[in-house]
Amino acid sequence: MDPTDQNFNRYNPHDVLSEGMFHQLFSGKEVLSPQLNEVYELALAYYESRILNEDELLRNGAYFVKIRNQYTRHYHMCTGAPLLLPKHSSSRLRSFFEKNQFRTGYATHGLFPYRGKFHPQMIKALINVMGLKAGDVVLDPMMGSGTVPIEASLMSIRSVGIDASPFCRFMAKTKYDALSLPLEPLDRALEKSREIFDCFYESVGAPVPGSKSRNERQKKPGNEIQEVKTKFPCGSEQILFELVGNDSRKIFDFLLLAYLDSAGYSERSKRKSPFEQYRSILERYVFVVKKIQHVLSGFESILAKATILQGDARTLPLDGNSIDGILFSPPYSFAIDYLTNDSFHLNLLGEDSNKLRETMVGLRGKNIKEKYRLYTEDMDCVFSECGRVLKPERFCTLIIGTNDNQLSKALGINKEEVKGLHRIMIETAQQHRFRPVRTLARQISGIANTMRNEYIVILQKT
Ligand SMILES: C[S@@+](CC[C@H](N)C(=O)[O-])C[C@H]1O[C@@H](n2cnc3c(N)ncnc32)[C@H](O)[C@@H]1O
Repeated sequence: MDPTDQNFNRYNPHDVLSEGMFHQLFSGKEVLSPQLNEVYELALAYYESRILNEDELLRNGAYFVKIRNQYTRHYHMCTGAPLLLPKHSSSRLRSFFEKNQFRTGYATHGLFPYRGKFHPQMIKALINVMGLKAGDVVLDPMMGSGTVPIEASLMSIRSVGIDASPFCRFMAKTKYDALSLPLEPLDRALEKSREIFDCFYESVGAPVPGSKSRNERQKKPGNEIQEVKTKFPCGSEQILFELVGNDSRKIFDFLLLAYLDSAGYSERSKRKSPFEQYRSILERYVFVVKKIQHVLSGFESILAKATILQGDARTLPLDGNSIDGILFSPPYSFAIDYLTNDSFHLNLLGEDSNKLRETMVGLRGKNIKEKYRLYTEDMDCVFSECGRVLKPERFCTLIIGTNDNQLSKALGINKEEVKGLHRIMIETAQQHRFRPVRTLARQISGIANTMRNEYIVILQKT
């Protein structure tokens, strides 16, 4: 048949329909994840199936339930109740967790709500398609809640996670440590939840039930996170000491994270008393830790080490050519003011948000134009640093949203002329030894979002 003929490549409906399309993409040995319903997910599943061998797919694949009739580790981690939701939870919340069971509801990823958090399942797939293997080191220079270090650790890949916010460092480290916390003190902590709550209430700070404005919280001087961590600063300190002993700082941090989480809820809602809120969040936290540890005990798996630091992505504390892959999502220049968002927790921990603002990419500047200029300057430094620390030929993946309305204002041009922040970032990266290899678009759902599209941009160091 002549390939220039417009009927070339057309088949009759019966042949096409009865054959299906998946065999064009997959070999037939794979069963795809049941919640895979977006094009970028199908693309990542396809890349995983081409890049990983069968053992690697079983061990680390993100988008598969079974390979040759054997369940994958991802399936084992995700199956069962995703979270211990309180009895009165709305059907909307329940259906969210059910819908996202394979995307987010596993391991310790679900602890503490953090805006702009990655889907861990997508991160797992990206770590795979960047060709990272056990023994390699992946870097997230803007780790937020720590999705990359936690996921990498589960995949036996070492990692370095960095964030400018001390609260992010604390949250990410605590969630990572929770993967291997001793379980017995957690049961005792549940028994003593009233006393622990009183201790934090007294020493760390008290939420004001139902108060809407987090900014109005009074800062408690002298309660710096380091101090909270080095001694138990409250009258009932004996209780915590008995519970966690001399060297169980990790348990203490875990209980504190649950307290901060519950205090945030209490400020937003009066439905439960602050103590009831703490109790139910602590139960949920303990459930999550027990579940993932139970699953991990059934694998021959080694959790890889994650190094979690507070630092500035514009001046990375790392040697040149020392990193095997970089995966990160920078702030979206105008979208989320992380300091205002986290002000409640930063204040409780005694942090000065104004001082921090100077190091936060996307938050510097007085008006939209100045903010944009400083954002692009800062991101230029970030790419320069990524180009320095990454080994040659390795990959750097960026996940970034774009808001064309705001960009058109910042640049003083029509919306139609805006090329998108992802393209601007690709051009910046190209100045620092990166070449673009693949860009995938993913839609952002949710009514409150001002952004509709987010891009996964895979770059390679030349
Ligand atoms: C989109 S969030 C990352 C969310 C993360 N991917 C997750 O899964 O939770 C961007 C992060 O960049 C951090 N950040 C902003 N400026 C920074 C800087 N100069 N150095 C390091 N981190 C920075 C913010 O604190 C915020 O946590």
